[in-house]
Amino acid sequence: MERKIYLDNASTTYVSNEVLNEMIPCFNTIYGNAGSLHSFGRDAVAIIDRARDRVKDAINASKANEIYFTSGGTEADNWAILGVARANVNKGKHIITSKIEHHAVLHACQQLEKEGFEVTYLPVDENGLVSLPDLLHAIRKDTTLISIMTVNNEVGTIQNIKAIAKIAHDYGIYFHTDAVQAIGHVKMDVQDMEIDLMSMSSHKIHGPKGVGALYIKNGVRIDNITYGGQDQERGKRAGTENVPGIAGFGKAIEIAVRNQLVNNRKLKNIRDYFLEKLKEKVEFFQINGHPHQKSNAILNISFYGIEGESVMMLLDLAGICVSTASACTSKSLLPSHVLQAMGVPDEIAQGSIRISFGTNISKSDVDYVVDEIQKVVAKLRAISPIQPGRLN
Ligand SMILES: Cc1ncc(COP(=O)(O)O)c(C=O)c1O
Repeated sequence: MERKIYLDNASTTYVSNEVLNEMIPCFNTIYGNAGSLHSFGRDAVAIIDRARDRVKDAINASKANEIYFTSGGTEADNWAILGVARANVNKGKHIITSKIEHHAVLHACQQLEKEGFEVTYLPVDENGLVSLPDLLHAIRKDTTLISIMTVNNEVGTIQNIKAIAKIAHDYGIYFHTDAVQAIGHVKMDVQDMEIDLMSMSSHKIHGPKGVGALYIKNGVRIDNITYGGQDQERGKRAGTENVPGIAGFGKAIEIAVRNQLVNNRKLKNIRDYFLEKLKEKVEFFQINGHPHQKSNAILNISFYGIEGESVMMLLDLAGICVSTASACTSKSLLPSHVLQAMGVPDEIAQGSIRISFGTNISKSDVDYVVDEIQKVVAKLRAISPIQPGRLN
């Protein structure tokens, strides 16, 4: 049988058996609409309440009613950005974010600009970190929201979230973080980190697709962005609740947080072994992202003198799945906005792939992958007009 190795876990993950078992009864046994007043409806509400408690515990929110289920990370990001900006126009129309956010944040910000808001997109350094002096410099009297992601989805850099949130609060500004790539990798404690709003997604942590949540600290002023059923999600997020998805997400986040330490250690071992082997077998490449302050799951590698797109496609032929940038932009040939913001020259950025590990990868898988990368890189360099050594 053809060997298949999945190294694209930052795009999505498989649904674990424990999660699947939690979901199955919600399709054909407890299938009521949570809005119905009869027993089928009440059973569905009980499932949602349990999941809400699990999410609350996983992120140490003070109350379960601060968790609002959404259709995923994108909706949570859109809601946080649009909802807070629009609800606080009496204070001002300026918000701050960074140049390396996911498009779910960046495109919501562009929408706000069309509505007459001003957005400051903070630069990052060569490791992908936002500078605190830059942030302080960008704050204005009319700033209402600062939104900075916890873990970058392309290079894995982890921002100094606690310090950023503290600055926001010193100036009476709300702080939102996109923690979609952080859950299960970085300890997210919304009380300790002073986070006002936090986006989460289920399918990055072995839960089902199409479900996530926005944590909204009680008291935060935020407008709705969906309109419909007035009782759904306590009048804040309309739409019939995705009960199986919510049940699965609740279980997935409980497991991800419970296993975080063990999984992090496994991922670090896998990543370090991969890098050691890669350095032995391949020349002329660089790792993008912070050298230490980064997720153990994500590795962004630029191979000099060749196209990341071609590396990805040839690896696919060998049964190895990696990506070129984030899943949402991997069909575009534009250089990654994240690498650009980090100052990686376009000709180097074009040669990059993102490998995102799962804990199910063995050393023998890594050996196979590195051997294939060695072959693919050699093959592409043999036909490349660019001499990789010159780019070093
Ligand atoms: C950092 C980040 N934010 C938001 C999202 C969007 O989440 P979802 O796929 O659940 O809409 C993703 C998914 O790739 C992500 O990596």
